[in-house]
Amino acid sequence: MASIDYIERIPNNVSLAEDRRLLRALEDWQPKFLEWWHDMGPEGFQAQDVYLRTAVSVDAKGWAQFGYVKMPEYRWGIFLAEPEADRRINFGEHQGQPAWPDVPGEYRGTLRRLIVTQGDTEPASVEQQRHLGRTCPSLYDLRNLFQVNVEEGRHLWAMVYLLDAHFGRDGREESEALLQRRSGDHDKPRILGAFNEKTPDWLSFFMFCFFTDRDGKYQLASLAESGFDPLSRTCRFMLTEEAHHMFVGESGVGRIVQRACELMREHKTDDVRKHGGIDLPTMQKYINFHCSVSLDLFGSEVSTNAANFYTAGLKGRFEETKKSDDHRLKGGTYPVIGLDGEKIVTRQEAALVSLNERLRDDYTADCQRGVNRWNEIIKNHGIDFTLTLPHRAFRRAIGAFAEVKVSPDGRVVSEAEWDARHRDWLPTAEDEAYVGSLMQPVTERGKMANWIAPPARGVNSQAEDFEYVRLS
Ligand SMILES: [Fe+2]
Ligand SMILES: [Fe+2]
Repeated sequence: MASIDYIERIPNNVSLAEDRRLLRALEDWQPKFLEWWHDMGPEGFQAQDVYLRTAVSVDAKGWAQFGYVKMPEYRWGIFLAEPEADRRINFGEHQGQPAWPDVPGEYRGTLRRLIVTQGDTEPASVEQQRHLGRTCPSLYDLRNLFQVNVEEGRHLWAMVYLLDAHFGRDGREESEALLQRRSGDHDKPRILGAFNEKTPDWLSFFMFCFFTDRDGKYQLASLAESGFDPLSRTCRFMLTEEAHHMFVGESGVGRIVQRACELMREHKTDDVRKHGGIDLPTMQKYINFHCSVSLDLFGSEVSTNAANFYTAGLKGRFEETKKSDDHRLKGGTYPVIGLDGEKIVTRQEAALVSLNERLRDDYTADCQRGVNRWNEIIKNHGIDFTLTLPHRAFRRAIGAFAEVKVSPDGRVVSEAEWDARHRDWLPTAEDEAYVGSLMQPVTERGKMANWIAPPARGVNSQAEDFEYVRLS
């Protein structure tokens, strides 16, 4: 009976009940996860009813169920996309062979590292966002924050499932370590740089969801191509949740842009700060910061690691199966930017070692589409201002441009010019203090903070004054 009760608490479509060993491992991990959630998850609001969607199945229509849930009682579960019959490995040296249901011994260490690196980002973002509930611009936004948070928690469950199910004792140790690292901690930081940055305000949160969660989308999409079938199926389902996080980011920034434009027109001024809005030049600085931090997550432009992951069949390209080449990249080349003295140049590099740059290109094109939609909002107000992505060499800490200073428009600049100009390019302490000063909680039903426009529609078509979080 105990195991049936446990199944009810962990929804899953992986026949957990039939695998006693795995069940015990997850049973052992669950209270540690809840302890972490309690310590490092959203600050406050743990006893409140939140209008959340929960994954209940993986088919296209039936997976999301909306209802009031207290966050610690969220039904974190293990969901894999349905298996594809006779799935094959689609790229690399094992191309054409049946996909692996288990970890091939020779790739055990590499796969574990890939899964742990992905898994580490999930709790990290929850930690980064844990203080934001206190300063929500509306109940709608508060609910969206918590939806993102519980789903990142579920993504952690997804990676822990893979570790526990396929990596034995090592996997269980990694599962524990995922709960022990802390975003921004000096002694035990999260693995990747962007996940140790602060998310001090809601503008940063929306930018993070737009830029950094989108890195997640591209990493997951590449892992969804993996020859290791359980990883592929896990990532395919995670992508359906990730789409919502990017919606939160894009629509959040779009609503702030919208509000800035309204204030500019209403008061016939560019100085919307006087009227409690966030001005477009400040938005541009935040874009520069969050985009550059996120570009680093793709790694070095030329990478033998990426080549090895590909050749081994572990991590493919974005939409690998839609491409019509040899899927081995033995011969071809790919354009990669690099430095030639003080100049930024494009070189043809072997396609196989250029996979990080290729994924960064796919990512950048996707970001640009979102920026275009923000610019539409500005244009529709008849305002002459264009938001842009910074040049990809701007403010990079990883790869070919880590040692040089580059302007947002892509010029290598001297230290002196950087020192003189970086305040125009990146948020300053004053910008951050101003944005911080706007972060006053608005928790009345249907009300919105002055610096952000209301959403176009409610969650699950709810009315404007819907009580997304029951505070009383
Ligand atoms: Fe995630
Ligand atoms: Fe996400």
